Amino acid sequence: MHINLFLLLLFISTSYAATDTLPEGSSLSVEKQSDTLLSSNGDFSAGFFQVGENAFCFSVCFTRSKEPTVLWMANRDEPVNGKDSFLSLWKNGNLVLTDAGGTVIWETATLSSSKLHVKLRNDGNLLLLTSKGTIIWQSFDSPTDTLLPTQPLTERVGLVSSRSATNHSTGFYKLYYDNDNVLRLLYKGQTFSSVYWPPSWQLPINIGRSTYNITKTALLDSLGHFTSSDGFQFRSTDYPKKVYRRLKMDSDGNLRLYSFNEEHKMWEVTWQVVPQPCMIHGICGANSLCNHDPNIGRTCYCLKGFKIKDPNDWTQGCEPEFSSSDISCGSRESLGFLHVPTTELYGYDWNVTRVKSLKECQNICLSLCDKCVAVQLKFNEFSDYNCYPKTMAFNGRDSPNFDGEIYLKLPNAILRSSTKILKHSPMNCSVGLSQKLNRFYQPPEKNSTLSFLVWFAFGVGVFELSTSFLVWFFLLRTSKHPDTKDQQHHLLSATGFQRFTYAELKSATKGFKEEVGRGAGGVVYKGTLYDNRVAAIKRLNEATQGEAEFLAEISTIGMLNHMNLIDMWGYCVDGKHRLLVYEYMEHGSLADNLFGNALDWKKRFNVAVGTAKGLAYLHEECLEWILHCDVKPQNILLDSNFLPKVADFGLSKLLNRDERGNSSFSRIRGTRGYMAPEWVYNLRITSKVDVYSYGIVVLEMVSGRSPMAIHSLENSGDIEQHRLVTWIREKIKHSPTCAFWMEEIIDPNLEGNYDVSEVEVLVKVALQCVEDDMNERPSMSQVAEMLQANQNKLLPR
Ligand SMILES: *[C@@H]1O[C@H](CO)[C@@H](O)[C@H](O)[C@H]1NC(C)=O
Ligand SMILES: *[C@@H]1O[C@H](CO)[C@@H](O)[C@H](O)[C@H]1NC(C)=O
Ligand SMILES: *[C@@H]1O[C@H](CO)[C@@H](O)[C@H](O)[C@H]1NC(C)=O
Ligand SMILES: *[C@@H]1O[C@H](CO)[C@@H](O)[C@H](O)[C@H]1NC(C)=O
Repeated sequence: MHINLFLLLLFISTSYAATDTLPEGSSLSVEKQSDTLLSSNGDFSAGFFQVGENAFCFSVCFTRSKEPTVLWMANRDEPVNGKDSFLSLWKNGNLVLTDAGGTVIWETATLSSSKLHVKLRNDGNLLLLTSKGTIIWQSFDSPTDTLLPTQPLTERVGLVSSRSATNHSTGFYKLYYDNDNVLRLLYKGQTFSSVYWPPSWQLPINIGRSTYNITKTALLDSLGHFTSSDGFQFRSTDYPKKVYRRLKMDSDGNLRLYSFNEEHKMWEVTWQVVPQPCMIHGICGANSLCNHDPNIGRTCYCLKGFKIKDPNDWTQGCEPEFSSSDISCGSRESLGFLHVPTTELYGYDWNVTRVKSLKECQNICLSLCDKCVAVQLKFNEFSDYNCYPKTMAFNGRDSPNFDGEIYLKLPNAILRSSTKILKHSPMNCSVGLSQKLNRFYQPPEKNSTLSFLVWFAFGVGVFELSTSFLVWFFLLRTSKHPDTKDQQHHLLSATGFQRFTYAELKSATKGFKEEVGRGAGGVVYKGTLYDNRVAAIKRLNEATQGEAEFLAEISTIGMLNHMNLIDMWGYCVDGKHRLLVYEYMEHGSLADNLFGNALDWKKRFNVAVGTAKGLAYLHEECLEWILHCDVKPQNILLDSNFLPKVADFGLSKLLNRDERGNSSFSRIRGTRGYMAPEWVYNLRITSKVDVYSYGIVVLEMVSGRSPMAIHSLENSGDIEQHRLVTWIREKIKHSPTCAFWMEEIIDPNLEGNYDVSEVEVLVKVALQCVEDDMNERPSMSQVAEMLQANQNKLLPR
């Protein structure tokens, strides 16, 4: 025994720096920086990662990034002390993480009579191996929130987000295989849980998901192609580049694929599953509304009558400023309803009742006493209303295109109070970064040290093992809208996204008679759907894409929802036919209206602002997730108020997937006159190509001169689209005053009626957008911001 103890102490004091292997009977100490395993390629490390003050988690990290990127943790919910904590490979074959004092925090619970060693492989997998190389245990089998290429996602393990970007303990969002074999995302909060992806109105079958394949596995390959046994698949925007990648269940509920940019030593998002952050459940907690603006990102608000619970943590939501007895049956007379327009509260319906009036709906809510907090009212196809009494105000989001309305039940005293409808409480991003976790180190008493060492030496069976493996909950989908047929139809018409048959669309268009447009990949026809909605139906030229892949992408595009993007109502996949069904715009496109006097200056400026907002939303901040690649006046449609809606987005992804093995952007896209120089010079294609095209469109709107027309006037050998730009730049350069160049370039159709400061800002921004160097161009959300700043500045005048 004494010899054992002696040997043990010897091992503990030995340091194994800069090696990828930990031999049996040895330990890594939290106190020694050098006690870290390093993969032989130097790109991954396994060691103690600091998560708070004097708090560490044993982690596998990627080391090439500026800050180490945590990929895996051993029991992230119980950090260990900064002193006297060890990861040890016991001689019995158990790999154990012990806290100061010897408490087992995590273990592999493996036993082996043969000699084992731990090895950190070049792909980030931490292995427990026999000398013959047989794998006894591997970190790839128990992921935390990150999946690496070649690491399978299985039924047994899912991905669970961390609590926040800086708090690594278990969070609320899970990627998992459901009981019906479909890969889903689940919000599992402290009191509620619900599935938010795929969205409940999209039946698996309608989006190409199979419920029959019981394999339940998914795999990301190193080129950026993800495939799941239920038929879901995607490719990263940089497919098939050979780079480091990781798929992460982020703490904000979005599943994102990151690619490592070697040049900047940073991770870039190359795919994400939910384009609209407010569609993620639970993100703002109860009694709140989520709002997303491409310029400022996501914001949470408390509903009127409610106040924020914890300003540092929005997921806690808001609590009432009144007591629950204030809305109980006894106080029925003193209750009223607050109208909250264009808002959706998802789920938590008491039931659905057809009603004739708002009053009738409110009475149902009142009769439910404190069990009903609000009602949602929706027009239905029988020309009366569906009334949804809400038992909870959860998953609230601001949704301009939603055709229902919310009436919030509140005590009259609060209704009459002067606070605005919504109390603005923007998220405080800096909170959470500085939180410290304190763990106090108490020097162990002599006796306990001895017994600790004795246990250490003999290992087996001494402990009551406190198993601390992550437990994965395979939860049934709960708290959804009831799944009646009527309900399904209601959901379909509410979101307007559905699958049509070819025959339906053929009859809607009377055999594809009335052609209203022709664009990349297909012809657009006017049609009337069974419910008398007038639609624009685009028939894609050829079926270059498999059905599953088409459906996967359609379901993503179908989720996009912005007032400046054309609404997609549905699609059709029928044999080789691929059709898309959109809302129909009476006023046609910007191109139809530009050369004439339909658009006065105010309208033109609004078109510029709205188009910028729509594109900014597509680009989703710095995430280059959907590039339009063909921004031009023909693709900007005008609604009844001449407000713009960008059309034809997402098609660049849908149409060109036939060139396998090539980057999805290997072919020149877009329209002459509007194409950025990157296409011509074969440079990297980023969202800045859309910024460029947008700039050209704006200059065209201001000047009333098409970039192509300028081309025919001037005859230099330069690239065509430079003509309009060069011409305007020259005019400005040689003008003595601002008013002078404006007069020269402005569209004569405006007959001198324009706002000088708006023209100035618009031309200035547009010229920045058409810089040859893409890095000089602003992002689309910066453009929207600059134009809106000007708009706001003008308001008080
Ligand atoms: C089920 O999924 C696995 C893994 O993706 C695949 O290999 C297999 O062909 C699928 N089976 C069927 C019947 O589609
Ligand atoms: C829904 O619940 C309310 C209150 O309990 C009740 O009056 C109403 O009849 C119910 N509607 C249906 C369709 O069951
Ligand atoms: C955000 O939180 C930080 C740290 O707690 C605090 O210093 C700062 O004032 C807060 N900002 C706002 C706008 O509340
Ligand atoms: C992380 O979040 C968990 C759960 O909310 C909390 O118990 C823990 O104290 C947090 N840790 C830190 C370092 O803030």
